[in-house]
Amino acid sequence: MTDTAASPVTLPDAQTVTAVKHWTDKLFSFRVTRPTSLRFRSGEFVMIGLLGDNGKPLLRAYSIASPAWDDELEFYSIKVPDGPLTSKLQHIQVGEQIILRPKPVGTLVLDALLPGKRLWFFATGTGFAPFASLLRDPDTYERYEQVIMMHTCRDVAELEYGRELINDIRQDDMLAELMGEGFADKLKYYPTTTREESPVMGRITDNLRNGKVFADLGIEGIDREHDRGMVCGSLAFNTDMKEVLEEFGLEEGANSDPKQYVVEKAFVGDGV
Ligand code: FAD
Ligand code: A2P
Repeated sequence: MTDTAASPVTLPDAQTVTAVKHWTDKLFSFRVTRPTSLRFRSGEFVMIGLLGDNGKPLLRAYSIASPAWDDELEFYSIKVPDGPLTSKLQHIQVGEQIILRPKPVGTLVLDALLPGKRLWFFATGTGFAPFASLLRDPDTYERYEQVIMMHTCRDVAELEYGRELINDIRQDDMLAELMGEGFADKLKYYPTTTREESPVMGRITDNLRNGKVFADLGIEGIDREHDRGMVCGSLAFNTDMKEVLEEFGLEEGANSDPKQYVVEKAFVGDGV
């Protein structure tokens, strides 16, 4: 007997969307179910996507924005108008499925840094995503006496995902309890814009080089012995940040060779 019944269409490595929030016309975040077997370190990324028009998976790298203890996975995404994936992904609805390859990797992990006193997160745009995970990981506050989140975007609205997340972990009693005693005093948030007027302005690189951020936060500066950094943004930002951190005497580390700072691209730019 031949089986002629059509099999139901299921995506390979399918996960179901549980929430979607649009922040601006260029930015959205969404949550999906988490494969029970998926273990990851805060700061890592996975490949996610949808089936393309040719029926083949269309996958892109995405930082996991949720912490390792969360039952679900969260992602924070750009909407590229003609982007092969995000022109479709931006229309995803609760109950629909995405593809998620459960193989987390990446360099923005606490283990890739030598122990220190102060941990700096430097992000532009969607480069905030891996830090959305690390900022909600109790391990971050256990390892460091101070955690400083610098996030820069062109406009105020583009900072909102990060601002809300920081407010949530400061105000939600359950989250605050998870982060450990005294965490709120350890966490400093330094959002800036570069184009739209806002209370604090300027590129991260400029605010480090001219000492503005140190003066504003009452910090002497960055030094090799105590300070550790994680960088995530465009290629140009990452390149300039490396230069700044090396000027302060920090060296780039990796999973296999922990040092004073680590870098990851938030996206692969045109022609790169
Ligand atoms: P693509 O063809 O991939 O990109 C088209 C162009 O859009 C690029 O050449 C670039 O100029 C621009 N672009 C792509 N991504 C971005 C971005 N995030 N911000 C600004 N401009 C961009 N993207 C996210 O939105 N969130 C993440 O958490 C994220 N994590 C990543 C982690 C790694 C390690 C890498 C390498 C990339 C990551 N990206 C992330 C980028 C992502 O992989 C895709 O490039 C993005 O989703 C756009 O896909 P696309 O197919 O629509 O367009
Ligand atoms: P600016 O407005 O001065 O270019 P983009 O939207 O182009 O990805 O940029 C996101 C943010 O990162 C913007 O605030 C932008 O500042 C800033 N930025 C872009 N390139 C660099 C760089 N090489 N060094 C520091 N900041 C940068």
